[in-house]
Amino acid sequence: MQAFETQLRDALSNATGVPAADLRIENPRDPALGDLAFPCFVLAKALKKAPPAIAAELAAKLNDELEGIEAIATGPYINFKVERGLLAKTIVGEIEAQGSQYGHGTDGAGKTIVIDLSSPNIAKPMSVGHLRSTVIGAAIQRIHDALGYRTVGINHIGDWGIQFGKLVTALDRWGSEVDLESDPIKALLALYVRYHEEEEGDPTLAEQSSKNFQELESGVDGHVRKTWKRLTELSLREFDKIYSRLGVTFDEVRGEAFYEPYLESTIERIQAAGVTQMSEGALIVDLTPIRKKMAPCLLRKTDGTTLYATRDLAAVFHRHELYDFDRCLYVVGGDQKFHFEQLKGVLKRMNVAWEPKVEHIAFGMMNLPEGKMSTREGRVVFLEDVLDRAAEEARKIIAEKNPELANADVIAEQVGVGAVVFNDLKREREKDIQFVWEEVLTFEGETGPYVQYTHARLGSILRKAAEAGEGTADPDWRALEDAAPLILRLGRFPAVLRSAAEHAEPSEITSWLSTCAREVNAWYTQHRVLGQEAGITAARLRLVAAAKSALAGGLALLGVAAPEEM
Ligand code: ARG
Repeated sequence: MQAFETQLRDALSNATGVPAADLRIENPRDPALGDLAFPCFVLAKALKKAPPAIAAELAAKLNDELEGIEAIATGPYINFKVERGLLAKTIVGEIEAQGSQYGHGTDGAGKTIVIDLSSPNIAKPMSVGHLRSTVIGAAIQRIHDALGYRTVGINHIGDWGIQFGKLVTALDRWGSEVDLESDPIKALLALYVRYHEEEEGDPTLAEQSSKNFQELESGVDGHVRKTWKRLTELSLREFDKIYSRLGVTFDEVRGEAFYEPYLESTIERIQAAGVTQMSEGALIVDLTPIRKKMAPCLLRKTDGTTLYATRDLAAVFHRHELYDFDRCLYVVGGDQKFHFEQLKGVLKRMNVAWEPKVEHIAFGMMNLPEGKMSTREGRVVFLEDVLDRAAEEARKIIAEKNPELANADVIAEQVGVGAVVFNDLKREREKDIQFVWEEVLTFEGETGPYVQYTHARLGSILRKAAEAGEGTADPDWRALEDAAPLILRLGRFPAVLRSAAEHAEPSEITSWLSTCAREVNAWYTQHRVLGQEAGITAARLRLVAAAKSALAGGLALLGVAAPEEM
C-alpha cells in the first residue's frame, strides 16, 4: 500500500504543484468505493476551486497517466481502484521485501517516548491486574520501537511508603512463622493480611509501623532499611520470573525509593514556583485554580513523610531532564485517574511548558466473574497461577488435537501465555475486562491461539508445498483476484501500526490480527492452494507466505510467540 500511496501523492503533486508531503491518502469510508481515497478539500485554497470540481478535473488527468489504477471522482473525493493483479503483486512484494519488519519505519526518528509500565508493588503478588500494565506498556513500547522512536521503558516499582513500615513490623513480630525464602511473595502476603486483621485490636502495631517508615525515610542504615532491602530483593526476584515468561524487559527499573534523594529539591522547585502553601501542618499545592473543587496535592505530611505524588513529581522532572521526552506515558489503571490529574495539575500550576506531553495511558480493570479483585480480602488471581493454568490447558488441547507434536511443552507455554496476553490486549484499553477462562483459551474467535493456529496452518501449507516441490513457477497474480479483501487488509497493516502508536492502543493491532486471521481462513477454505495450475499455485503460495509473515510480525509486536506448528 505504501508504494501506491507514494505514487498517488507524487502524481497529485505533479498535477497541482502542491508538495507531496501536504497530500494525504486515506482509506475510503466505504470499501466498495475504492481501495484508496484522496479528499480534495486541502486543494481548494491553492487551486481556488470547489472540491468536487477539483476531484473531477484531477481524476480525468490522473486516468491519462496512471497505469493499473483507476481514479473515480465521487463528490469532493477521488477514489482509486487498483487492478487486482497489480494489487496482489505489489502488496505481496512489499511484505516479502520487508520480512519481519513489514510496516516498520523511521517515522519516530529523533523522538523519545518514555513509558512507565508494569510498576507493581513490592511484597505483594503481581495480580492479573498488574498484567495489564505490563502487557499493554510493553506492546506500546514495541510498537514505537518498530517506528524508529527512541523508547525508554521504566518499571516504577512501588517499593516505598507506609506499607513497608507495616511489613517490617509484621516481619519482626511473626516473621519466624513464615517461610520467606521458598515462596517470598505468598509469605509476605500472609503477613500483610495478618497485619491488617490485628491492626485494629492492637494500636502499637500502627505506631511501630509509622516509626519504621519514618526511619526508612530518614535514611538511617539500620535494621529497618536492611529488612526493606531484603524484601525488595526477594520480590524483584519473583517478579523477574514472570517478566521472563512474558518476554518483557525494562530499560530502567527505578523504584519509588530511587527518587528519595530528589525529593527535597523537587519540593524546593515547586515552592520556588510559588504554588505551595501550608495547610494543617502539611505542605500542599492548591489545585482549585485548575478545577473548581479539585482536592489539593499533598507534598509532605505533618509527620514530615512524603507521598506517592511527591515521588511521582520527582520522577517526572528526573525523566524530563534525562530524556527530554516527546511523550511521557504512564500505563496505569484508570482507578488512578485522579492521581495523574493531580500530577499534571501541579505541573500546570507551575507553568511547566511540557506538561501536555505527560499522559496517563489509562486502562480498565480486570474483573473476575465473582467481582473486583482485592489483595486485602484475599480475592486475587495470582498472575503466575494464571499463566501456569493457561499453559496446562493449552497442553491438554495439544495432546488432543496434535499428539505427535514435538516440543509440546514449549509450544504449550507459548500458546498459554499468548492466550493470556492477547486476551488482555483485545479490547480498547480503557474498557474493563472480565477474566473468563473459557474465553481466554479457545482456539476460535478473537483469541491469541486462533491467530497462532492460523499462522501455523499457513506454515504447514508451505511445508507441504516445499515437499512436493510446488510453487517454483512464475505466479499468475490474477489468480488472487478474490483474495483482494485479504490483500487489502495486509496492505493496511503499516497504517494500523501508526494509528496504534498515535493512540497508544495495542488493541488496534489485536483486532487487525483477528480480522486478518478470519479472512485468511475464509479465503483458504474457498481456494485450493496446492496442485493447481503451476502459476496459480505459485501466486497462492506467495500470498500464504506473505500472510503468515505479516501475522507473525503483528503477534511479535504484542509479545505473542508464533510457533510453526501447534
Ligand atoms: N505501584 C503503583 C500501583 O501498583 C503503580 C505505579 C504507576 N506508576 C507511576 N509512576 N505512578 O498502584
